[in-house]
Amino acid sequence: MKNLIKPLKLGSLTLKNNIIYAPLAGCSDVPFRQMSALYSPGLMYCEMVKMDALVRDDKNTFRMLDFEPCNVPIGAQLCGSKKELAAPSARIIEDLGFDVIDLNCGCPVDKVTKDGSGSGLLKTPDLIGEILTNIVNTVSIPVTVKIRIGWDMQSIVAAEVTKIAEQAGAKIIFIHGRTRVQGYKGPACWDLIRESKKVAEKIHVVGNGDIFDGNAAIKIFNETNCDGVLISRGTMGKPWIAEDIKRACNNLNPLEFSGIEYRDILLKHMDFITNYNIERRAILDMRRVGCWYFRSRPGTKKLRMAINQAKSLQEIHDLINNFDWNADEQ
Ligand SMILES: Cc1cc2nc3c(=O)[nH]c(=O)nc-3n(C[C@H](O)[C@H](O)[C@H](O)COP(=O)(O)O)c2cc1C
Repeated sequence: MKNLIKPLKLGSLTLKNNIIYAPLAGCSDVPFRQMSALYSPGLMYCEMVKMDALVRDDKNTFRMLDFEPCNVPIGAQLCGSKKELAAPSARIIEDLGFDVIDLNCGCPVDKVTKDGSGSGLLKTPDLIGEILTNIVNTVSIPVTVKIRIGWDMQSIVAAEVTKIAEQAGAKIIFIHGRTRVQGYKGPACWDLIRESKKVAEKIHVVGNGDIFDGNAAIKIFNETNCDGVLISRGTMGKPWIAEDIKRACNNLNPLEFSGIEYRDILLKHMDFITNYNIERRAILDMRRVGCWYFRSRPGTKKLRMAINQAKSLQEIHDLINNFDWNADEQ
C-alpha cells in the first residue's frame, strides 16, 4: 500500500500528518480539542465563528476561539459573505495566535445562507475568490476553504471553486461530498472530490464526508487521490480516530479498549469539561458528550439515562466510576 499518511505543507507551516479534525459548531470546543489532541491529528479546527460577531467584539464568539497553546496547530473558521469584513476578521484571528484560517462555504443552515454566507457562497463562486483574496492579502498564516460540492445537483461547483481558491492563494480546499440541498441525506459523493483533485495544481484537496473509520479513510484516499482526510462526525465519541486511520494505513487493526480503559477515556474527557466550564454547563455537556461515547458501547443505556437525570458533576462521576464497564447489554 502506498504511504497515504504524510505531512502536508501549507506555505511556511507543515502539518505532521494529513488527518484533520473538522470545525463542528456546538462540539469542537476546548475540552473536545484537548481530548482530540491526545491522538495527534495533523490539525484541528475550532467551531465556526461569524465575521460580523468577531468585528463587533462579541464575547461569546471569542470564547469559541479559546484554545490551549499546547493543542496546536489550530485553525479558526470564519463564516460570512461580506468581503469588507474578511480582512478585519482575519486579522483578529491571526492576532489571537491561530495557525490557519478557513472560510466556511458549507454551512447549510437557513439563517446562515439567507445572507449568502456558508453554503450560500456556492451560488457566487467569484465572491468566494474575492473573500479568500482579501484574507490571503491580510494575513501571513495559511488560508483554507471548506465547501460542499454545490448548492444542488444542478449547480455543482466543486472543481470551479477549487480553481478559484487556488488562484486566490488558499492552501487547502476541504470538499464535503454533498450538496446544500442534500443536507446529510444519502452517501457523500466522493467522485466529485476526485474531479476536483484532477484540476488542482498547487492547492491540496482534502476529502470529507462519511469517514468513520480507518477503512473508509483508505477508501477515500484510493478513490479520489485526495491529499488528506477531514473527519467530522467520526471524531464525536471517538477522538482516537486519527490513530485508527494511521493504524489502518499501516495494516494494523483499530485500537481496542477494555471496559475500564473506555471508562478512563470518558473520565478524561469529563475532566477537561469540568475544568473548562461552570458546573451547570458541564453537566449539560456531559449529557451530550456521554451520548457519543455510549453509542458504541453495549449495555450503557441505563447509565446514559441516569446521567441525564443527574444533578451534580460528582453524581455523574460516581455513576461512570461505579458502572460495570465489563457487563454485557443490559
Ligand atoms: C454537529 C455538526 C456541526 C458542524 N459544524 C460545522 C462547522 O462549524 N463548520 C463547518 O465547516 N462544517 C461543520 N459541520 C460539517 C462537518 O464538518 C462535515 O463537513 C460534515 O459533517 C460531513 O462530514 P462527516 O460525514 O465526516 O461528518 C458540522 C457538522 C455537524 C454534524
